[in-house]
Amino acid sequence: MKNQLEQLKDNFLTAVKDVTDPEKLEALRVEYLGRKGKLAGVMKQLPDLAADMRKEAGILANEVKLGIEEAFVQAQKSVKDLEGASRREADWLDVTAPGEAPVLGSLHLVTEAMEDFADIFGQLGFVRVRHPEVDWDWYAFESLNLPKTHPARDEWETFFIADGDEVQTGELGKVVLTPHTSNGQVREMERGRMPIRMLNMNRNYRRQSDVSHSPMFHQFEGLVVDENVTVAQLKGTVDYFVKQYFGEDRKTRLRPYHFRFTEPSFELDITCNQCEGKGVLPSGVSCRLCKQGWLELGGAGMVHPNVLKAGGLDPEKYTGFAFGWGVERTMMMKAGLNIADIRLLYRNDLRFLKQF
Ligand code: FA5
Repeated sequence: MKNQLEQLKDNFLTAVKDVTDPEKLEALRVEYLGRKGKLAGVMKQLPDLAADMRKEAGILANEVKLGIEEAFVQAQKSVKDLEGASRREADWLDVTAPGEAPVLGSLHLVTEAMEDFADIFGQLGFVRVRHPEVDWDWYAFESLNLPKTHPARDEWETFFIADGDEVQTGELGKVVLTPHTSNGQVREMERGRMPIRMLNMNRNYRRQSDVSHSPMFHQFEGLVVDENVTVAQLKGTVDYFVKQYFGEDRKTRLRPYHFRFTEPSFELDITCNQCEGKGVLPSGVSCRLCKQGWLELGGAGMVHPNVLKAGGLDPEKYTGFAFGWGVERTMMMKAGLNIADIRLLYRNDLRFLKQF
């Protein structure tokens, strides 16, 4: 039995030497010191020994047990140290290493264009505002002198989203996704802060979709109302914008047109950058981008007296001018941008957007 006990201790000491895994160490403890373990197995023989041998074997068994336990505690400590060291290695952070730069996005080119427009008109004292894009028929049409039979008020052109409750809304009428930023004109007048120099930029909606029309697009609307406002001031304002945005060499012209909410009304044209306003390319071929040297930018005019009245202003005292252009179309007219389909701007394909 003495031999068996010493062998047991030697075996344990050899086995425990190479253990690095806490689970294996625990298994070894159970194998040797557990209730049904190897030491307990040897101890079972104690009662069969003669009394004097039994005492000696008992003392030895106890020493062997203490020896194994001590070796186990030692092994447990070194396994723990090892674990801690490898965890520290995994968690180690070099605080002096250069950081990883986050991927930066950029503004959408339509947003960039709107910021450019706001900057340029801001230099002339225009204040950027945002009137509702979901509005009453009154602000989108009726107050702008548009008769009920006007084609723009047709279901085919405009998204009507709710019938107005006549009792609650009186003359305000139906609810529409506003098809132009001109709905901001009477709203701005109602604020009663004179003189007005407004730049209303917002989303608009129309039932249109083709290469040059998107069902959702943006307009920017200028409105100036004060005493003695003239067409010359309108011309000076649009001229300043065109030279700042498109370049000093571009010329403008006001071409007579018709809008219900301005009188007189104009279309603003700018000289074509491709043929430099000549309508003919140096090769002698007529320019395919423009009409005889001019490109259409958008509508403008002197605010109609009925619109001033709808806004609570006296047309005998006040006059004003307004213009409203497409953000996308104006931006796309800038030299160097060659976008074949306006709807590409809203497909959110990064391969397209990252080109600009
Ligand atoms: C108007 O909307 C008038 N409210 C402009 C105005 C304001 C005139 C103030 C006088 C005084 P028009 O329907 O022409 O006008 O639209 C103006 C511009 O919006 C167009 O020249 C075009 O650039 C842009 N636009 C119109 N519909 C779309 C569309 N579906 N997609 C993209 N751009 C559009």
